[in-house]
Amino acid sequence: MSANHGSTRPWSYDAIADVYATDMGQSMPFDDVGWYRALCLREGGRALELGCGTGRILIELLRAGVDVIGADRSLPMLMRLRHDATEHALSPNVLQMDIAAPGLSARFRAVLLPYSLITYLRDPAVAQHCVGALAALLEPDGCLVLDAFVPQQVTSFADFRRDYRRVHEGGFLERHKRITANTDGTNRIERRYTLLDANDRVISEFETDETIRPYSANDLCRLAQSANLVVESVTHDYNTTADTLSRFATLLARKPA
Ligand SMILES: C[S@@+](CC[C@H](N)C(=O)[O-])C[C@H]1O[C@@H](n2cnc3c(N)ncnc32)[C@H](O)[C@@H]1O
Repeated sequence: MSANHGSTRPWSYDAIADVYATDMGQSMPFDDVGWYRALCLREGGRALELGCGTGRILIELLRAGVDVIGADRSLPMLMRLRHDATEHALSPNVLQMDIAAPGLSARFRAVLLPYSLITYLRDPAVAQHCVGALAALLEPDGCLVLDAFVPQQVTSFADFRRDYRRVHEGGFLERHKRITANTDGTNRIERRYTLLDANDRVISEFETDETIRPYSANDLCRLAQSANLVVESVTHDYNTTADTLSRFATLLARKPA
């Protein structure tokens, strides 16, 4: 499952755990948190958030009273989650786990894969196997939510281009990015991060390199159906845009009762 292309640098999320909230946390333009909160409150029962990261969604679910546990492949992300949760007097139940090998025997009313988690399974056969294993974690009538960046026209560029400069912990975080559109439908995304102090002096620099596969709404439907789940709804950009312009497709599929 490694996306390191043979390098010895840490896996991307291990490297960015301490800047995630300023980085991808701030890059989500939609109220996906509100969408997941409403879903979990409507469904009731116990939920499992896979790829829970530093708890951007998980902490808000817990604050809303949802009975949820989290799992993530990245220990640094989980450690940051535990740290941030203490600010809300929460002590979340989390475990380190790769979704490609979900070693759980508990059953859940809702299994969530937010913020395009499925895109890290860039081999569709692995994704299909994984969705089958996750469907087995559902209670009868329970639901699986698959969320994905939808395929867009991607143009490769060879130079690193500036993505943003954001205020971060009394200084700044800058990110540059290079994208390579691969012929197999995956995209390689290389990111360079620079942490600066309030006087613009560089504190540290680090890089990530990952390859992801976008999944269309139809791809998500096929994955769910291959696991004998019944497709209930497809939401685009958490109900804010028309499907033709959407960035995210979110599929809700249910296990027959
Ligand atoms: C974009 S972040 C989303 C974090 C959080 N759910 C949120 O919405 O802010 C993706 C998370 O998925 C985790 N992840 C990626 N691939 C994974 C895998 N194969 N198994 C488990 N977690 C994975 C990463 O470590 C990271 O924490």
